[in-house]
Formats: sequence, structure tokens, C-alpha cells
Amino acid sequence: MRRPLGVASVMLVALFCTAGSARAAMVQLFPHGFLWGTAISGFQAEMGRGRNQDRRSDWWVWAHDRVNIAEHHVSGDKPELGPGDYALFRTDIALARDQLHNNAIRISIEWSRIFPRSTASVTGPLDLAAMKRLDKLADQRAVRHYRDELTAIRRAGLTPFVTVSHFTLPLWIDDPIATRDALARLGPNDPPPSGLADAGWLSAATIPEFAKYSAYLAWKYGKLVRFWTPINEPMVVAASGYVNIPGVLADFFPPGALNYPAAIRSLVNMVRANAAAYDAIHKWDRPARVGLVQNMIAFTPAYPASAADVAATKHANYLFNSWFLNAAVRGDIDANGNGVIDPGEQHPELARKADFIGVNYYYRGRVSALAAPLTPTIPVLDFLPATNYRTRQNPSAPPCPTSCSDFGNEIYPAGITQVLGIAGGYHLPVYVTENGIADARDRQRPSYTVKQLLVLLAAIRHHIADVRGFFEWSLVDNFEWSAGYAEKFGLYSFDPRTLKRTPRPSARDYAQIAHQNGVPASLARRFGP
Ligand code: FCB
Repeated sequence: MRRPLGVASVMLVALFCTAGSARAAMVQLFPHGFLWGTAISGFQAEMGRGRNQDRRSDWWVWAHDRVNIAEHHVSGDKPELGPGDYALFRTDIALARDQLHNNAIRISIEWSRIFPRSTASVTGPLDLAAMKRLDKLADQRAVRHYRDELTAIRRAGLTPFVTVSHFTLPLWIDDPIATRDALARLGPNDPPPSGLADAGWLSAATIPEFAKYSAYLAWKYGKLVRFWTPINEPMVVAASGYVNIPGVLADFFPPGALNYPAAIRSLVNMVRANAAAYDAIHKWDRPARVGLVQNMIAFTPAYPASAADVAATKHANYLFNSWFLNAAVRGDIDANGNGVIDPGEQHPELARKADFIGVNYYYRGRVSALAAPLTPTIPVLDFLPATNYRTRQNPSAPPCPTSCSDFGNEIYPAGITQVLGIAGGYHLPVYVTENGIADARDRQRPSYTVKQLLVLLAAIRHHIADVRGFFEWSLVDNFEWSAGYAEKFGLYSFDPRTLKRTPRPSARDYAQIAHQNGVPASLARRFGP
């Protein structure tokens, strides 16, 4: 984090001459070697025009489930009508390199494509014999596909960041409907039965399977990939899966439950799964850098003058932004959610399971204190964060207090400094692995991106965190989980019939920034503070 910045580093003012004019433009430069990319994920972007369907993941079943659709827990949009990156990855890589001038890209591999059937029969150490047995169970067409994609990424000169599980799990690991129905029979504080089968992250049996899958990917692709991230946003998986309070917080990820003990159990299993994947990847890909991707919200008190809101904001930061990082970096698992690491909650064998931190930052959350915790299971959960404001899809939400995205999230570029302050405290390299905005008409994205990057640059300059790269979410519009296609995060839109990509105006700005490794004065003047 305190890595000295080189002379040719941040805030050096460089002179660039444009071909047509001798006019020199000032550029606020990022550190030398900074990575510029976009992020996508397999399930959200691979399928298109009904082709290359993968029906073997929990999210496929979840998104098509009639009950979920009838209850408006999911949009009913079809993931198979997405941008079709499975077939068009070469097109997308070319956009990233030639049009956006990027030098990196973040993708995910779909577990259910590599292992459509159970790997439970492979037992014992993750040695070469185990890899060969896994090889027999793997779908070799899918294995070839991702090899081709990663090879094309490397040939294009892009550094790949590869997510091992970006929200989706194979159906043989997670039957989301059975788990939904089992949890619906319980009260919010009833511990779920320990023997639930195929219950995703609720089941400890998922951990060794995830380790096998991670080892296998590192064995297969280690020569092509240096940066791995095992589980995308574990806190979002837990909160959106198990803490759905209709009208308050409800993203309805599988299994769409309200059960606090399940949230904690899934988190503890994900801590262990992240650690197992970390070791498995390093075993087969020694020089690998294995990071933890954490979604971070910039929490501020709803009423800054209220001592209760200020205290509650600390709890929100602790639970949402720090809990998982404390576990993965320090081995501190606060399983009783009381804000303290009690005897027995320190696990040295689970510490140091992240070589870097990936920060996904989107918006602000205004925190209001509650008179009592929402649940005795998590005593520090004594607040409600306001993160979603009124949109056409969500007309009953409160009005946006400042300016908001199409998704109803409050735009707050300054907040990245706050969350980087938390991430920087772990003294590891940091990459902004996602940042972006749902903005179909590209009205706010141009100014949002530039403001965001100027704030990020200042944070780097002030040594708030050792930030080494930035990935815009997303390259192209895609399937935004329960919200479907209504939320458009892409620098490119796509035509669902032809799959033709069309850049939004901000794609040009982002390209210019990546190309010059900095924010040109023209953009800073137009959109800066
Ligand atoms: C993040 C997810 C990503 C996408 C963006 C908008 O939380 O990682 O898949 O949904 O939000």
C-alpha cells in the first residue's frame, strides 16, 4: 500500500500532441503499467439468440422459474437472449483492444459448463492423478472453448482476470428451488437443517467440490492466467440470497430467502471455499495472484448529526465491507456477528488467503439506525441502508436524494475514496474490478466515469490504496440477474436479433483515457469537479 510511486507516476503532467494540431493537451496520468479493462461474467453475457445455452446452472433454473416470475422476484427476461459473447468472444476482445485501447479484461468461467455433472467421485489429494480423473469428467468442448478465449485474450495483449464463480453454481451443487422451498418453511431465525442436499453455499459439501474445480482450472489454464478471483462478491451472494426483506432489501438471488442463520452459514462456507480455492490454485499455478473481489458500498449516516446513525454506519461498514475481508486476510471469522473476534473465532489456517483485493464499487448507502438489531443472530445488524430509490420499475421506493442511475442507485463518485480507505487498510494491492452505472441513454455515464477516475487518481496520489487497475462494468449490456435486461451497464449496447454491438458515447471517452493512461484535460474540464 505504501509502495513508493515512481517518477513517471501519478499526476505527472504529460504533453500530448494531436495529429491535426500542435495544441498540447494536459493529461493527468495514472501509474505506469496501470491496467485498463472492462468486466463481464459468463452467465450474464455468454448466451445470445438462444444459442450456446447452459441449462445446468442454478441461475438458469432460477431465472426461468414460473413462481419466481409470477412473484416478480425475477424479471422473466431470458438469459439465452443476451449478447452472445460465447460465440462472439473474438469480436468482444477486438472491441476491447482496438476500440477501447484496453490492456486487460475480466471474465468468468462457468462451473456448470466445465463440470455439468458431479465431481464428487474424485476423492483424495488434488494431485496429478486427481486432475486426470477430473479431466475425464469435464466437458472437453467447454474446456477448449475457454482455452481458445484465454489464448485470444493473451494474443490481443490483454491481461485476463478470471473469476472462478461469478454468482452461478452447477445444478448438481445447488438446486435453488428445493432450497428456496425448504427455507420458506422456516422462520427468519430458525437454523436451516444441516443435511440439506444440493444447497449451494449453504452446504459444506460444496467446499471440496469448489477446490477441485479451482485446481482443475489452474491446472488447465495456469500458463495463460496470472490473476484469479475465486468467488465474486461473497457478501452479495449471502445478502441477496438469504436476507430478502420485501420492500426494504430484496434482490432475490437464489434461494431468495429470509433466513439469518443461513446467511451466516453460507458466509462461513464461502470463507472456507475461498481458502481452499486459494490453496488449490497456488498448488497448480505457483506464480498466480489470487484475489478476493468484494462489493463495497460507501455508507454515510442518513443524518450525520445523529450519533445513532453514525454508530450504525460503522456497523454497516463492518458487516458489508469488512467482515469477509477480515476473514480472508486475517482469518477472523465473526460467526456470531457481534462485531468482536471472540475466542475460537480466530482461524490462523484461514488467514492470508488473498494476494490482492478486488473492489467493486457502485454507489452510496445512507444508513439509518434501528432501535434494536433485526435479528439476534447478527447483533450488529442494527441498521437499514438506503441504496435503492424510485425508478419506473420500483415506484414505491423513496425519491432519489441527489442523482441516481436507471437502477435507482445514488451516484457518488467521491465514495470510492472511502471504500478504498477500507481496502487499503489490508496492505495488499488493489484493483477496481468493477465500477459502472446503469444508464441506457448514456446521459450520466460520461461525467460519472471521468469524475470517478479523477477521484480514484487522487486516492492513488494520497496513498489511500495501492490501486493497480480499473475495470468498467461492463463491456456490453447483459443479463443483470433478477433485473434482467432493463438495466444497461454496457459501454456497448447490442441488438438482440443481430447481436451487433454499438458503442455509447462514453466508450470513446473511456478509450481515450485508457489510451493515454490518464484523464485528458479536455475531459477533466468538461466533467471534472
Ligand atoms: C455487481 C456484479 C455484476 C453486475 C454488477 C452491476 O454486483 O458483480 O455481475 O451485476 O453488479
